[in-house]
Amino acid sequence: MKASISLNPEHTIAKIDPLIYGGFTEHMGRCIYGGLYDPKNPNTSLITPSGFRSDVLSCMRDELSCPIVRYPGGNFVATYRWQDGIGPVSERPCRPELAWSGVESNAFGTDEFMAWCAEARCEPYLCLNMGTGTLEDGLAWVEYCNGSKNTYYADLRRKNGRQEPYNVKYWALGNEMWGPWQVEQHSKEDYAKKAIQWAKAIKLLDPSVKLILCGKDGASDWDRYVLQECLKWVDMHSIHYYSAGDSHYKNISSATASARNIQIASSLVDLARCELDLSAFPDVSRITTRARSETRPKICVDEWNVWDPARAPGDQGAEERYTLSDALAVGVWLNTFVRHASELGMCTIAQSVNVIAPLMTTEAGVWRQATYFPLLLAAAYLHGESVAVHVKAPTYGGETFPEWARDTIAVPMVDAAASRHEGHLNLSVVNADLERDFLMPLEGVKKGVEVQVFVVGGEGTTVDMHNGMDSEVVNIKESTWSVEEDGAKFKFQKHSYTLLRWKY
Ligand code: AHR
Repeated sequence: MKASISLNPEHTIAKIDPLIYGGFTEHMGRCIYGGLYDPKNPNTSLITPSGFRSDVLSCMRDELSCPIVRYPGGNFVATYRWQDGIGPVSERPCRPELAWSGVESNAFGTDEFMAWCAEARCEPYLCLNMGTGTLEDGLAWVEYCNGSKNTYYADLRRKNGRQEPYNVKYWALGNEMWGPWQVEQHSKEDYAKKAIQWAKAIKLLDPSVKLILCGKDGASDWDRYVLQECLKWVDMHSIHYYSAGDSHYKNISSATASARNIQIASSLVDLARCELDLSAFPDVSRITTRARSETRPKICVDEWNVWDPARAPGDQGAEERYTLSDALAVGVWLNTFVRHASELGMCTIAQSVNVIAPLMTTEAGVWRQATYFPLLLAAAYLHGESVAVHVKAPTYGGETFPEWARDTIAVPMVDAAASRHEGHLNLSVVNADLERDFLMPLEGVKKGVEVQVFVVGGEGTTVDMHNGMDSEVVNIKESTWSVEEDGAKFKFQKHSYTLLRWKY
């Protein structure tokens, strides 16, 4: 089979929401303490006057331009008392932490996170405790962050040094409320009932906020039910999906399969929006559907990444050491988001620092995992409008993870997505094949065009390579390619992520 790629800048799909390149920081392992916040680090030059890691800030702000960060969990949030994390640090209580079996010092709390977001120039996205937390606690937190009148919690914020409201726009109605590991696990019926009451009250307090409903993986009866019940009250529907695989192709197939969950979740949103209009019954030819809701909540993939909990257990800090294979899987994830731009309102990689993260810290500095580099390139260039790409390439027919993917989706050896932005076309391609380079004609690239080329992996690498503090062996190789004839062929190297960018 002759592999080929075609794209036309006029064939746009939808505007890409920049929030798809968001991050997530949880009180888990070394994500907050030692990741974001490290006041006792002996290398004082790395630490800002507020105790933040300046090297992490610089990666998140200056390299990844991370637009939004979810906080404080994750499973952690199910027993979190936000009130413990405000006011003088010396007076804050230590509490048992039940999600990851630790002790929470509360040295880093709401005001520290807001200050960190201001330094990172990103928006905060807060997750409410709907486990042990009450609606009163939730309302108090919204008031503390967003209250502008002289009310108790807004005044408490002022007393703690912050005059102006933080105006936190995005709030999640709980985290993985369906999970058996959750303190105060809920049935879908109980959660839906509670979520409506919380949404109603929070919007009475602050109608400007955007609420994110707690979904499952997007393809479950939980997702169907809670959307059906709560759709009118929420602005987005969250889904979580971690891909993994004990071999390279299973790893790739698992990331490819995530597209089905986004598609099913979006269909469930549409299903929940419509109801049968039976007023013309029994004239069945005139029975139609009508919308129950004017708005169409988008999908928020607020936990996604490659994660094998057997390899990196959550209660041991989940410090994955990512390989080039994982970087290619992350490339597939990012391509999937760009292709599904019409369905997605936000995506936050889980997580941003140290815990299943593209960025790692030691006392001496940061280092970038293999997975950092596709994220860096996508976040830098895949903006504007998503453009349709057609790929002709061999598919993988072996074992997949999850198993259902084998009969449900074709896993292409070459996965691609594109965007057009500020006069440039950006083409993002994963060649997952372990053996074959693909020489592919790029229809639509005209003679004389100079193409910027960024490659992660490919020649000179193997898929099991990974980085470390002193060895970022998986990184970006940059070059240019001059197109000498219309439809010239570009070589996508085996096991590589490539981003091509040219003026159109
Ligand atoms: O990101 C790690 C954990 O994975 C989160 O705390 C939880 O929400 C998910 O199960």
